[in-house]
Amino acid sequence: MRKPLMAGNWKMYKTPAETHAFFEAFKPKVADATECDIVICPPFPDLHAALKETAGSNVSIGAQNLHWGREGAVTGEVSGHMLQAVGCEYVIIAHSERRQYFGETEVDVVRKTQAALEFGLKPIICVGERLEERESGRTEEVLAEMFDGGIGPLTPEQFAKIVIAYEPVWAIGTGKTATPAIAEAAHKFIRGRAAVKFGEEAAQAVRILYGGSVKPDNVQALMAEEDIDGALVGGASLDPNSFAAIVKF
Ligand code: PGA
Repeated sequence: MRKPLMAGNWKMYKTPAETHAFFEAFKPKVADATECDIVICPPFPDLHAALKETAGSNVSIGAQNLHWGREGAVTGEVSGHMLQAVGCEYVIIAHSERRQYFGETEVDVVRKTQAALEFGLKPIICVGERLEERESGRTEEVLAEMFDGGIGPLTPEQFAKIVIAYEPVWAIGTGKTATPAIAEAAHKFIRGRAAVKFGEEAAQAVRILYGGSVKPDNVQALMAEEDIDGALVGGASLDPNSFAAIVKF
């Protein structure tokens, strides 16, 4: 009942010319992929090229971040209102790199998620433990804190519109994928937390993506797990062949 979602997070890679070249190669490869939702999140300067290339296609476009305000004297920021105006459909919120390098917290998750929803964007909210937290047996404690602090304060109506991405920090860009069993355990925990807060039906409906070194050769095993509903893909989404292979797992 949960439609898989495959999202590419380009991070700080590609120019507009490279964006055009990517979609020229990628679109025909996934034109018949109707079983899952496909999203690419390029850097802000590439949004125009990406939206132009994907107009009328089965590929949606998202941003990697937003400010919680509508407009204002906030140098260097981009609002949900602006992302909506250019045609973005999704936005990633609190990726671990934003948490780690820019100090984003659960307070940001709540206000950014609320802003995204206000402007009609679908938030992909990232949670995940760091290596030392996993090694000291604190994974569930950390996930619970992130869920309760960043997602718990949403209304049931808001919760129904979000996507969650479980991304263990130790697996991002390291080539160390969580095993399907490790990922599934975390996804089950998050869904359980959602059931306590928002009820069983809402918890069963929310999509939880896995992220962290997803590649064409490990996506199938991850997707075979009951609570894994898609992937948030960094490195492997930069190449049209590898991301198409992931989409068509
Ligand atoms: P990776 O990145 O696939 O390159 O590990 C995932 C992410 O950061 O979303």
